[in-house]
Amino acid sequence: MNIKKMIAIYGGLVIGVGSAAYAAEPKPEPVPPTSLDLRTTVDGSPIDLSTSLPTERDTPGVLKFLQTGVDPYIDDPSCLRLGQSLFLSDCSGCHGEVGEGKIGPGLNDDYWTYPKNEHDQGVFETVYGGARAMMGPHNGDLTLDQFMQVIAWVRHFYKDPVDKAYWLNAEQKKNYKPYTEAEGKRIAALPISTPGQCQATALKEKKLQDEEDKEAQ
Ligand code: HEC
Repeated sequence: MNIKKMIAIYGGLVIGVGSAAYAAEPKPEPVPPTSLDLRTTVDGSPIDLSTSLPTERDTPGVLKFLQTGVDPYIDDPSCLRLGQSLFLSDCSGCHGEVGEGKIGPGLNDDYWTYPKNEHDQGVFETVYGGARAMMGPHNGDLTLDQFMQVIAWVRHFYKDPVDKAYWLNAEQKKNYKPYTEAEGKRIAALPISTPGQCQATALKEKKLQDEEDKEAQ
């Protein structure tokens, strides 16, 4: 089963269109407070986080991002593993497998159409609320935690000089290595439950997927 379907099922379970087996649906999680002034990329209007999917709104990663504007997952292998899968199912059709560009612009180089995308907050705003042409809003496809995962992956496949990697802190800049195909294979080969900040999320999603696969048999 692909990730998109998995999200649809997970979302369905929560908003109550899931099967009768899930009688006790949890209520949508409250939207956490944010100190960020989040604005859409198209017209600068405020972003309303209550239009996000109802789960995974208050994971430690989301809470941290909403206070700092920095994606805390970008050097965590457990999150990169998930972000890579999400990118391949939701983004690569337009942006290329490693963000090299296709009908959408390249995301792995140091040129940004929107300079705000030099910062994680900018990429979040662009992907959450959409940009122009084929770049639609993704607030209905990805949970807030999944935004953190997929943005982490976008940062990870960056291949250009480190001095233009404005989203990295000094320590991360020191450890920076341009992305290679071998690195992509290494991350893809990691187990879904790789230890790290995204391990619990991964296991939860895997459990839902296994249940779904069993039902489908
Ligand atoms: C249907 C095709 C399509 C899909 C799917 C898509 N994009 Fe895009 N994306 C585009 C196009 C076209 C643009 C250029 C829009 C513009 O210039 O306003 C764009 C622009 C962007 C930008 C801004 C780049 C810059 O140079 O400033 C980012 C970041 C981005 N996309 C990330 C993503 C991510 C992450 C996903 C998956 C969650 C995604 N996109 C899915 C077509 C797509």
